[in-house]
Amino acid sequence: MKEPRLAFETHVVSGNPREHACDLLALLVREGAVGVAKISDAQLAAVDGALGGLLHRVARDEEFTGKENTAIVLHTHGKIGAHKLLVAGLGKKKDEGRDLDLLRAQAARAVRAGRSAGAKSVAVSWPHADGDALLMHELQALAEGAQLGAYKFDRYLREKKPPKLRRLDLLLLEKKPAAAHRDAAALGVRIGEATCAARDLVNEPAGQLTPGALAETARTAARDAGLHVEVLGRAQIEKLDMRLFLAVAQGSTEEPRLVKMSWLPPGHRPAAKGAKSGAVALVGKAITFDSGGLSLKTAAGMEEMKTDMAGAAAVLQAMRIVASLKPPFPVHGYFGACENMPSGTAYRPGDIVVGKNGVSVEVLNTDAEGRLVLADVLTWACEEKPALVVDLATLTGACVVALGPLIGGLFCNDEPLATAVLAAARRSGEEIWRLPLPAVNEEFIRSPIADLKNTGGRWGGAINAALFLQHFVGKTPWAHLDIAGPSAADRERSYNPRGATGAGVRLLAELIRQRASGRE
Ligand code: BES
Ligand code: MN
Ligand code: ZN
Repeated sequence: MKEPRLAFETHVVSGNPREHACDLLALLVREGAVGVAKISDAQLAAVDGALGGLLHRVARDEEFTGKENTAIVLHTHGKIGAHKLLVAGLGKKKDEGRDLDLLRAQAARAVRAGRSAGAKSVAVSWPHADGDALLMHELQALAEGAQLGAYKFDRYLREKKPPKLRRLDLLLLEKKPAAAHRDAAALGVRIGEATCAARDLVNEPAGQLTPGALAETARTAARDAGLHVEVLGRAQIEKLDMRLFLAVAQGSTEEPRLVKMSWLPPGHRPAAKGAKSGAVALVGKAITFDSGGLSLKTAAGMEEMKTDMAGAAAVLQAMRIVASLKPPFPVHGYFGACENMPSGTAYRPGDIVVGKNGVSVEVLNTDAEGRLVLADVLTWACEEKPALVVDLATLTGACVVALGPLIGGLFCNDEPLATAVLAAARRSGEEIWRLPLPAVNEEFIRSPIADLKNTGGRWGGAINAALFLQHFVGKTPWAHLDIAGPSAADRERSYNPRGATGAGVRLLAELIRQRASGRE
């Protein structure tokens, strides 16, 4: 399923924006650096001097003042090292997470501007931090944004425009790049590339990306990254007693697959049975197509349901980053892949199915299938006593109603974990908002004839789904991310394209990075 992306190289170099030779130079400036009346920033002033004041005039004409997400483009007529100049605003200095995300956005803009100008080389200069800790985050964010902005799902287009861009230079001013700077940019490239690979999986039509194909992608990715991988078919899933998972899968002619990818640190010994493992478990929803089953969706409701495996795509691609981060603790990525289809063999509304952990579920709506599969996979993951488990799932339309299409919902039973997930989200520029797990709502998912039912009525649907999942994690510190909204978009926004966004990859990578570095 994965084709080699025609990638450009990203380099960290010291350079003077005025002299640096490239096809397109992106000068990222804070608001106020380019005033209507004056040009204050030293780098800008130098460039404008060489251009004979042209930059100042264009900025004034276009009322460009460096506000966030604005930009102007100029031809330089060979007066500076770059053929073309993009001046892009970063707005006023805000908190670190927001500032880094603006770098991502404007690096994406620079690469896109380079693409439409047919540039082979793009350079980015920005008012960078002096201190190495922040500078490294900036380099990572710029490298990420550039990869994210260069993405296009063009597999099925007859006319592809092969990108000409070969090289991206991140310019350090009066500072020599060190190995740590290059490593930070390289991490950004890897995370950006992994996010784009997740987008490809989510954008791939369900007729192509079957449960088997998704599992094979995981197998190949794991092999390439040096991870352990297990792929189990129906017979083995039956042995594991995952009857909720199998119930969802039984309406489809496609065989389900249960996948476990593992990073084990060198010299790692498996914990004794029942003992805490110190591992991190990541679980993704992997419905390769969600028709709703016999509780069939409407035609409109089904249009985007090839994206119902976005959680698993994020976990799969995050595992590749984990392999490169080499954390000192095990990390396992799990997903149960299947289709949710209506047929003569499909599970029915009213069926009662007992999960792997012995909890019985009355299935009232076969379209609430994600929580059923996740229930069994979470049970499996938690049996190994991980230190924490994080699941990502395109779980409910109700979460999109609650938070809008751009923000994911976070549900968490553990305060330190919630804090860590929220911090990782901020750092990685992924928008999430915490929602509660109120015990008073338990009555909505209780069934008179089974332990639970799989729907909770009209109100608070995202919460009911999360409360349902909570019954399958025991006491394990657990975070659930409902990414039904942010996993795909109806139009391009900043560094995200129309279609799949790759939501979750950056957040998970940052969560593992933070935990590996012993908290920051
Ligand atoms: N995959 C959907 C949720 C979804 C909706 C994801 C829109 C992305 C965009 C999920 O399986 C589903 O159908 N949920 C139902 C649950 C309901 C039947 C309790 C929903 O949200 O309507
Ligand atoms: Mn559904
Ligand atoms: Zn679904």
